[in-house]
Amino acid sequence: MKYINKRLTMEKVNFQRIAKKFGTPFYCYSYSKLKENVSNFKKNFKSFSPLICFAVKSNTNVNLIREIKKFGLGADVVSLGELMMAIKAGIKPNKIVFSGVGKTSSELNFAINKKILLINAESLSEIMEINRLAKLKNKKVRVGVRLNPNTDAKTLNQISTGKKENKFGVNKNTFHKIVDFCKSSKNIDLKCLSVHIGSQILDHRPYGKMLKAVSHILDKTNHQFEFIDLGGGMGINYSDKNKELNYKKYNTAINNFLKKHKVKIIFEPGRSIIGNTGILISKVIYIKDSGRKKFIILDAAMNDLMRPALYGAFHMTLPVIKSSKISNKPYEFVGPICESTDKFITLKKFQKLEENDLIAICDVGAYGMSLSSNYNLRPKPIELLIKGSKINVIRKRQKYTEII
Ligand code: LLP
Repeated sequence: MKYINKRLTMEKVNFQRIAKKFGTPFYCYSYSKLKENVSNFKKNFKSFSPLICFAVKSNTNVNLIREIKKFGLGADVVSLGELMMAIKAGIKPNKIVFSGVGKTSSELNFAINKKILLINAESLSEIMEINRLAKLKNKKVRVGVRLNPNTDAKTLNQISTGKKENKFGVNKNTFHKIVDFCKSSKNIDLKCLSVHIGSQILDHRPYGKMLKAVSHILDKTNHQFEFIDLGGGMGINYSDKNKELNYKKYNTAINNFLKKHKVKIIFEPGRSIIGNTGILISKVIYIKDSGRKKFIILDAAMNDLMRPALYGAFHMTLPVIKSSKISNKPYEFVGPICESTDKFITLKKFQKLEENDLIAICDVGAYGMSLSSNYNLRPKPIELLIKGSKINVIRKRQKYTEII
């Protein structure tokens, strides 16, 4: 994305042109950025060619998943809906892993019938349930067990998952109990140990600790696992201040791990694949001067993009048409929703805006549209995929007739 003749442009189309054609707000994704991200991810770990399962929860658009599938990725899903969506996008069941702390019997039944690669169980009770269902069908089901390695991912508390106080995975003792049970069962084929310590991780050291914890437990377990699923969590650069994750060091740590343990690695990345490919474009409806600051009231709101309201997340915000005039007061960018948390960002300095101007909220490809809702009975925005100079509608704007 760059400014060409002062107009913010993605690949070969400028957002002003798109807004005229499709209205606002809209989500827009870059195909070439997606391709580049996948290729970088593969390069970073090419020494051991992992199975890369895209975390569908980060973006559930079937057309984007279809493109991701064409790059050879599988899927990590956490619900029946996501499993069905991955299959609809053409991902082969033998490249799908199913995570989640509360899979219901009907979700498990569907996964067993589809013969997906792995059901990653997160409790002894879930293993018992898989065993019961598999026995009824007289089948042997491939499972993984998610270990809670009690590792602090040094990320936001709300998206940390690998500490013992988090609900995810099982502790060491339960892990060993589950292994013993699986070995005694005719209907369970224990193939994988899985971990996922959190999201938006920018420090490689927690991954190192996680690998140590996994290595330690493997040493104590008398079972040959075929796969180790290391989850996702690789962070992206939301602001210039943020540092990048050191993939080289993470890769080295995994290579050292693999010298000792002969297993195949699975990853479940979401954000690092899709996060920086997407942008949300919104129009300024009104500008309200409140004395010390001005409210820039947008036509996008927290229902379209939850991350700032939910986590205080920072998203770079840019004007769609650049000018050199600077505002005389700080700007607070807000949506029209009846909640004080319906606010995207406050910026001390921004170029002077007028009503009807367009602004761009960046890096919203992951957990943007997938976390959106119809709160305040607002229809969900349209999604577009840009390929060079082509604009493809990949999900239509929701109609009022669909929600009323
Ligand atoms: N695998 C499992 C088991 C997960 O729970 C997650 C994310 C991932 C993989 C993918 O993680 P990623 O590579 O995208 O970091 N809504 C939050 C993020 C929640 C992540 C939940 N789990 C946000 O907007 O930052």
